[in-house]
Amino acid sequence: MNIDKIKNKLRNYNQEHVLKWWEQLGDIQRKELLQDIESIDFELMGKLVNQYIGRKEISISFDDIKSPEIIKIPGAESEILRQKEAREIGEQCIRNGKAACFVVAGGQGTRLGFEGPKGAYPIGPIFGSSIFQFHAEKILKAQQKYNARLMWYIMTSKPLHEQTIEFFEDNKYFGMNKDQVRFFSQRMLPAIDKHGKFLMSSKHEISKSPDGHGGALFALRDSGAIDEMQKMGIEYISYFQIDNLIVKVLDPVFIGNHLKAGAQMSNKVTPKITPSEKVGAVVIMDKKYAVIEYSDLPKEHMSDKDKDGSLKFNAGSIAIHILNTEFAKSLTEEGMKLPYHIAEKNIPYVDNSGEHIKPKDKNGIKFETFIFDALKFAENVINMEVIRKDEFSPIKSLRGADSVESGRQLYINRCARWLMEAGLNIPFDKKGNVKIKIEISPLFANSPDDLQRKNLSPIDTTEDIYLVLKIRNFK
Ligand code: UTP
Repeated sequence: MNIDKIKNKLRNYNQEHVLKWWEQLGDIQRKELLQDIESIDFELMGKLVNQYIGRKEISISFDDIKSPEIIKIPGAESEILRQKEAREIGEQCIRNGKAACFVVAGGQGTRLGFEGPKGAYPIGPIFGSSIFQFHAEKILKAQQKYNARLMWYIMTSKPLHEQTIEFFEDNKYFGMNKDQVRFFSQRMLPAIDKHGKFLMSSKHEISKSPDGHGGALFALRDSGAIDEMQKMGIEYISYFQIDNLIVKVLDPVFIGNHLKAGAQMSNKVTPKITPSEKVGAVVIMDKKYAVIEYSDLPKEHMSDKDKDGSLKFNAGSIAIHILNTEFAKSLTEEGMKLPYHIAEKNIPYVDNSGEHIKPKDKNGIKFETFIFDALKFAENVINMEVIRKDEFSPIKSLRGADSVESGRQLYINRCARWLMEAGLNIPFDKKGNVKIKIEISPLFANSPDDLQRKNLSPIDTTEDIYLVLKIRNFK
């Protein structure tokens, strides 16, 4: 596109200001800016700007919302049998190579404030193994168990992409085969100011941010991953988020229940700790499944009850899904089906005088899609309840709730429960936390059953415990 056409386009969309510094730019900067502009979907941005400018209060009819059906943690004999059956179906599916792992790791991780991809964070309590390493080893363990070649798809975003690949290269893919791992970036969208103008992060750069975890759908399509999956016979995508350290990847029970129900998309849920807990809730709205975000749930409705007296908004969504490959593909067939949400943020920018500003208040708007919005397009959905402390430890910030500190402790406590099931005596403090540090490589054991097959009697439980399978040959 030549410069006149670009100017025209910018004028049509009221964004001429992005060329304000044109005369001051060098050749390389001009080229970069033009590429940046050409990569923008102006039609979409025009719609999003109008959506923001003309936004109305969303009115949700809370009375019409119902709580979802949930496959509960088995208690009765019949439920235990049902779980066994689901496990067998799921295991067969994994053995046949019909399921792949997919992690979304494109978020900016602003709350954690860590330089680099969140997955590279040294979370291991003793040796600082990275989050990526934990997940990679879980996949390797599953591969051994099911004697199947398992693929791992990793979504990054532009600012993190090269660093993520380098991290895997430096660590020799954590023992995985390089050709089983695929990296691809999600799309980026310009951020706007409150008047709908693109914010500039420098005189020649438009401020952009990743298009939310729902952007996974475009990314799977754009990168060719979906087509590759279909060629390989991968029918089910085991979706998880990078920052959930203790997530069970490729859970056969979850996959089996999903298959038995002929579902297109499924959720793991866990009862909220309190009605005001800051997690989204899976519900039925307009006869479709949906997730109501905690920020959209007014205080006066948090404790609403169903007709049977149970809490309506109690099925906490922990962002672990199965998606059918074909279903995921259908959601971007004619453009993105998921809605874009508006997030107001403090976004650094260059002001009219060319000064770099780090705003103290929310000055800008980002647009994001959320993967759980895909639920309303699914004909069948299952919601499977899990024990939170066994499967969910999100790491969002350094300290406090959902942090490195709490996530690490949850992980140590889970290791301790596994070791106790295997017959060891582990010391706890008064708060119920384990007194020592424990790190178990998923390659050594990825479930209590794995541990029970080992001889653990020589372990001294008054000292920190680090269990690995072998000396690693990576960093
Ligand atoms: P979060 O919503 O916690 O966002 O992402 P974040 O970017 O990691 O952290 P903050 O909010 O800036 O502190 C939940 C999961 O979704 C992924 C993240 O990488 C994380 O695994 N995600 C989020 C993406 O892959 N892309 C996005 O655009 C947003």
